[in-house]
Amino acid sequence: MEKFQRTVFCGKVAEEHHNKEITLCGWVQKRRDHGGLIFIDLRDRSGIMQVVFDAKVYAETHQQAHALRSEYVISVTGKVVERTLETVNRDLPTGRWELVGAGLEIFNKAKVLPFALEEAENVDEELRLKYRYLDLRRAAMRDRMQMRHSILFAMRELLNREGFFEIETPILTKNTAEGAREYLVPSRTQKGSFYALPQSPQVYKQLLMAGGMERYFQIARCFRDEDLRADRQPEFTQLDLEMSFINEEDIMGVVERILERVFAVVGIAIKLPFKRITYDYAFGNYGSDKPDMRFDLPIHDASPIFAGTEIAFLKSVLTKGGKLGCLHVQQHAFSRSELEGWVNRAMQNGAKGLLWIRLSAEGKIEAPVAKFLPEDFVSRVRAVIPSFKEGDTLFIVAGGYQDAWTQLGRLRLQLGEALKLIDKSKNSLLWVTDFPMFEFNADTGRWAAMHHPFTSPQGDWESKPLGEVKARAYDVVFNGIELGGGSIRIHNPELQAKVFKVIDLNQAEMERHFGFLLEAQELGFPPHGGLAIGVDRLVMLLAGCSSIRDVMAFPKNQSGLDLMMQAPTPVDPKKLLDYGLKAMPVAKVSEGQEFK
Ligand code: AMO
Repeated sequence: MEKFQRTVFCGKVAEEHHNKEITLCGWVQKRRDHGGLIFIDLRDRSGIMQVVFDAKVYAETHQQAHALRSEYVISVTGKVVERTLETVNRDLPTGRWELVGAGLEIFNKAKVLPFALEEAENVDEELRLKYRYLDLRRAAMRDRMQMRHSILFAMRELLNREGFFEIETPILTKNTAEGAREYLVPSRTQKGSFYALPQSPQVYKQLLMAGGMERYFQIARCFRDEDLRADRQPEFTQLDLEMSFINEEDIMGVVERILERVFAVVGIAIKLPFKRITYDYAFGNYGSDKPDMRFDLPIHDASPIFAGTEIAFLKSVLTKGGKLGCLHVQQHAFSRSELEGWVNRAMQNGAKGLLWIRLSAEGKIEAPVAKFLPEDFVSRVRAVIPSFKEGDTLFIVAGGYQDAWTQLGRLRLQLGEALKLIDKSKNSLLWVTDFPMFEFNADTGRWAAMHHPFTSPQGDWESKPLGEVKARAYDVVFNGIELGGGSIRIHNPELQAKVFKVIDLNQAEMERHFGFLLEAQELGFPPHGGLAIGVDRLVMLLAGCSSIRDVMAFPKNQSGLDLMMQAPTPVDPKKLLDYGLKAMPVAKVSEGQEFK
């Protein structure tokens, strides 16, 4: 064995090594020079171990240790001794031991880092992303990477046990019609043609079912060129799966078992089966297709309370067929300025207005429209909301059902946070089922598939107005965040053609986009369905982080830039010509241009 080759990991030094010679490798976390004694905390992925260089024992090595600085990469050989009782560090698992450095090798020096690792939580995220490899040296990041690994490993184990094949599908592909804008890759050999990066392996996994693979999964990289948020990245990872000859119950069952395993990995026991609610119930009660059910505060339809009202803006909404949605906040003494604050908040959310009405402790109705409310207002409210009491407040949004309920859904979450109504010790996992099959896009004037156009509609759909057709689609929701979604697919070419027709894809477009899929549907296509779970979101939630960037090794920043590699970059115009491309002279740019 080479002299300075690691024999033990820093964090694993224990009783069994007492009085033995070992070699540790790692980074110098801290160095304290006490003259004749130099102490260092040596860190590797497993933890920290204290090393002492003693001038009296190993003068030469002690001399060498003078050169050590933070983040130098070294190897130290020596004997493990027990620390005296007063110097034991109870905060460290290895705190009883000390390595007496007899031999030292410096593999690599380090300049002063752009940020101190222990200060990283307070450092601008952009700087941490630029030097992500330094950020990854922190214990918090290591723990998240470890958790991510354990979660992926548990998923693989369970799916293997359940008879799934892990199969990789191409990254250079064709648009999969998932709705977001795709990333394009120019072809050099087919000038003027482009590959698309997959928004998900959707079509491939269906074709794997056509290929008789029966049960497929993949830890799949997906690419979507969409507006970024805390829970969205341009490239992200899904646990993608698909099964043949199954129904909704089979998919939900396997997903529940996966999540049960994954939660167990992080020490959380969850109850199966998950609660199930329909999309209509979720939206009608919580103004969202991914309700956070850790707290109640449902939306009530307050329209009957105001039937025949003379309050102009409410009357106008009701006569146009709109609705009045209402949140009933119990026993909270809002001040006037707090109430105004909520009105502003609702407007910032995009609502046209928010009407508050409260019943004071003395039983007096207070509201900007108080004098226009009828005498029997309280009893009218109680007919709809029997628990309405003195000290309660109503927040009302008037408008079209979709708009008003969406606004109230947002406000509900904000009220839940602000009034501390959310029991954060609870975990709420649920299925939302029976999604609408189609949604009308007012911008394009066309109907679109709400999930994707390969999703099967439910039962006798052709006799129903398009807006009422339900899909065999389901989402799994965790604490108000959409973790995953899937559906039972269409396996019949006639049905597929009908659905394409509704979303206004003509025969030529259908052939051009999905000819291969339509053909597969005519060559022995089994009934099948599947689902994909957002791995980054799942790990983020389990690690208690607020952004998926925190649980990805090398994420992009909010604007989709890779600050470490400095990507994307302009390309030499000569190189572009190889692809038959010419860049538009948008701005003067040169290769290797400085990022801001
Ligand atoms: P869907 O589009 O619902 O379904 O995606 C499934 C899950 O992927 C995660 N996700 C994202 N995570 C991070 N950044 C993003 N930009 C992003 N977009 C989506 C979410 C989401 O629930 N092919 C279908 C699945 C199927 O039908 O089987 C699909 O991709 O957690």
